[in-house]
Amino acid sequence: MSNIRKKVLLMGKSVHSNNFIGSGKTSMRSVIFSNMLAQGTKTLGATIDVEHSHVRFLGNMVLNLWDCGGQEAFLDHYVSTQKDQIFSNVAILIYVFDATTTSSSSEWEKDVQYFEDCIEALRGNETSSGAGVWVLVNKMDLVGQGPEGSKEREEGRRRILKEKKDELELRAREIAVRVEGRDIRPIRVYGTSIWDESLYKAWSSVIHTLIPNASLIRSHLTHLRNISSSIEAVLFERQTFLVLAKSGSEIDADEDELDDVEVQGGVKGLDRKRFEKVSEIIKGFRLDCLKSGEAFANWEARFKNASMAMDVLTANTCLMLIASEPWVEPALLMYNIREARKHFE
Ligand code: GTP
Repeated sequence: MSNIRKKVLLMGKSVHSNNFIGSGKTSMRSVIFSNMLAQGTKTLGATIDVEHSHVRFLGNMVLNLWDCGGQEAFLDHYVSTQKDQIFSNVAILIYVFDATTTSSSSEWEKDVQYFEDCIEALRGNETSSGAGVWVLVNKMDLVGQGPEGSKEREEGRRRILKEKKDELELRAREIAVRVEGRDIRPIRVYGTSIWDESLYKAWSSVIHTLIPNASLIRSHLTHLRNISSSIEAVLFERQTFLVLAKSGSEIDADEDELDDVEVQGGVKGLDRKRFEKVSEIIKGFRLDCLKSGEAFANWEARFKNASMAMDVLTANTCLMLIASEPWVEPALLMYNIREARKHFE
C-alpha cells in the first residue's frame, strides 16, 4: 500500500526578543511524538531554520512535521524568499502563541502580524487550498492569578484565552475574505500546556481531521457501545495515545451538540476532559513500564460505579470501553474488544 504523506507546519515566533524563549513548538512535538516528558523539554535548544521529522501514523500515513524556528530572521525568510517552498502542499498549519505575551504589547502585535503573514501565504497557495489552521495558545499553565486549581485562576485563564481567541479569529477571517473572497475554513483555537492533558485535546483535534472515514469509524464505535452495554467506546492511536474517534458526538463537538451521556451534570455527568486525561495518564504509565523493563499490553479496572477495559484493536489503534452497569465486569469488556477486532481490521 502506498504511503499517504501529510505536511504539517509548526510555526510561531520566539517571543521574548532579548533571550529568545520559544512558544513551545519543539516541546509539544517531542512530548506527543517522541515520548519526551515535559520536564525534558527544558534542555531543548532553539530550532535553527526548519527541522524536518517524519512520523509514521496509522500504518501508511506519514506526517511530515516542519518545525520552523521562531526567531525573527527565520520568520522573515518563511514569508518572503522561502514562501513557495514552505507553504506548498500543506495539510495543516499549527501556529503556536505564547500565552504569557500580553495582548496589548508590541511583542503580541508583532507575533499576530507574523501569524497573518503565514495565513496569507497559506491561503494564497493553490496547492494548500484545503489546509486546516490550528492556533495553540501555549504555556497556559503560566497565566492566571491565584492558587493552582482555584476558581480565580481558572477564570483568569478562560478570560485570557477568550480575548486572544476572539482577536485571532477575527484577524484570520479578514485575511481569508481578502484572499479567497470568503472564510470557508475558520481557524480553531485551543489553550494548551505541555504540563497537562490540554495538549492531547488540541493534538487529537488536529489528527482527527486527517483520518479518512472518521464519521464511519464513529458510527461503528457508537454501534459497538450500544451492543456491549457500555456508555462509551473510544479509539486511541497506539503510539501517541491521541484520541482518533469516539462513540456519540464528534470529539470536538460544541456543548449543544453533545451526546446525552456526555452532558456535564446530565445523565452520567462525565468529565469533559476525560479523553485527554486518559491519553496523558496511559502514556505516562507506559513510559514508567518501559523504565522498569515491562511493555504495556492492556489495562482493565473496576471502580465503585464503573468498569473499564483498554486493549489493542488493530495494529495501530487501542480501544477503550467504559461501562456503568454494576453487572458488567472488565473481563466482559475485554471480551467485547477482542470480538470487535475482526470488524475493525
Ligand atoms: P524555537 O525553536 O526557538 O522556535 O522555540 P520553540 O517554539 O520550539 O520552543 P521550545 O519547544 O524550544 O520551548 C521553549 C521553552 O519553553 C522550553 O524551556 C520549554 O520547556 C518551555 N515550554 C514549552 N511549552 C511549555 C508550556 O506549555 N508551559 C511551560 N511552563 N513551559 C513550556
